[in-house]
Order: sequence, then C-alpha cells, then structure tokens
Amino acid sequence: MSEFDKEVRPLVAGNWKMFGLKAALEQALQVRDTVSAEGFSANTDVMICPPATLVMVLGELSGGSRLLVGGQDCHAAASGAHTGDVSAEMLKDAGAAAVIVGHSERRADHGELDRDVQTKAVAAHRAGLTAIICIGETAGQRAADLTLEVVRRQLEGSVPDGATAANTIIAYEPVWAIGTGLTPTPDDVEAVHGAIRVALVQRFGEDGAGMRILYGGSVKPGNAHELMSIANVNGALVGGASLKADDFLGIIGAYSS
Ligand code: 13P
Repeated sequence: MSEFDKEVRPLVAGNWKMFGLKAALEQALQVRDTVSAEGFSANTDVMICPPATLVMVLGELSGGSRLLVGGQDCHAAASGAHTGDVSAEMLKDAGAAAVIVGHSERRADHGELDRDVQTKAVAAHRAGLTAIICIGETAGQRAADLTLEVVRRQLEGSVPDGATAANTIIAYEPVWAIGTGLTPTPDDVEAVHGAIRVALVQRFGEDGAGMRILYGGSVKPGNAHELMSIANVNGALVGGASLKADDFLGIIGAYSS
C-alpha cells in the first residue's frame, strides 16, 4: 500500500446507469457547487455520467465548473441509421468530456465483446472524448484463479493502439463487486491494478505509466479512503453511491483526508 500516487491526477467518476429523471439534477448541482468551492479535493477530477437524456442539460449546467460530464456508452459510427443509439460525436456536442465503454452491464446485456469495446473506444477518440474502458472478472473466473488472465486479455482486446494517457482511462470493476456491497481485499486490488499497470507500460510506454486506472465496485464513503490509497488506484468509478450527492462527495473527500 502507498499513499496517493501524486504522479497521476485522480478522477472520481459517478456512473448513474439507468437512474435519474430531471429531478436528480439537484444532486449533480450540489456536487458541482461543493467541488467548485475553493480547496475541495483540489487535486482530483470529478465527473458524473448521467443517462443520455441528461447529458446535454448537465453539460450546460456544469460548464465552467469543476464538474465534468460523461456518457455511459456510444455507437462506433459518427452517425447513421442506428435507431436508439447515440454517437460519441453527439455526446461531445452535448458537452461530454468522456464516455464509458465496455461496462460489464453492456457486455452482459448487449453481448459486447472486446473488439466491440475497442471500436467504441476508437470512436470516442475520434470525437475528442476520453474513453473510460471497463474490464473485470466474474465471480466464477475469480474462483477459478483466472482474474489476471481475464483482465490482461480484456485489456489487450479492448484498448486500441491509439490510446494515450490523455485519451484513455481504465476502470477495473470486478463484476461480482458491482452493486453487491462486496469488494476485493486491498491486496487483491493492488495485485490487479499492478498487473494492469505493467501491461499498460509494456504496450504504451510513458503513456501506460500515466494512464489512470480507476477501481469500481461497491465504492462507498466508508471504504473509499482505503481503496483509493492503494498503489496504482488513480480514482474510482462509482455506481449506486454516486446518486446521492452526500455519498458521492464523501467519496471524493477521501482525497482530501
Ligand atoms: P456500484 O458502485 O453500485 O457497485 O457500481 C459500480 C459500477 O458499476 C460503476 O460503473
């Protein structure tokens, strides 16, 4: 374990998933106003990825503040006859700075494979968005001691060659830790994040050393400080606890304590 890795600026990102009507913007605005106050976890980037319906309005409301906005998925094409889909260019146009790709719920619900995720990451880069690329093992894969193998394979297949420290963020989210209240031990997180770092440096050199690696899966105010202090953990991707401003701010605040 090490104290925060000062070389890499951390990011705490909230993934609202399919939660959030207009009324939920109140929570986002509380986050915006609190993090924009001087000195509040000043060395940390803060992002909310609301459902697509709220990206544009939140983009407008957070313009000029410290709160960044991201999408949760994008189509590979810039435009076209793809009913119901949203392109990376559209997210960028709506005010997004980033887009999550390859979340395990997309992989499970929509059959997305590593090569699909890679194509979406390329689309994000084409549009000028940062791609937040998600990887992580299932409970069965962990039980079979396949975690590192799975994570390395997903990294290899999902991260495009054009990835840089500026345009790509990796989110390690063990599938079994998402929404369950379970988290890996700090030693397990350190081992996986360390292996991800080694693989990134091997493939991308300096850029791999500077790429942010977020941990996601049941991050709460109560465990954030411990998780965020682990070597090569450069922030968090937060689901449920990002829906309430107080909880999300409690997690961001882990970086000031
Ligand atoms: P929870 O924080 O609700 O476990 O979700 C994690 C996640 O899937 C973020 O993308």
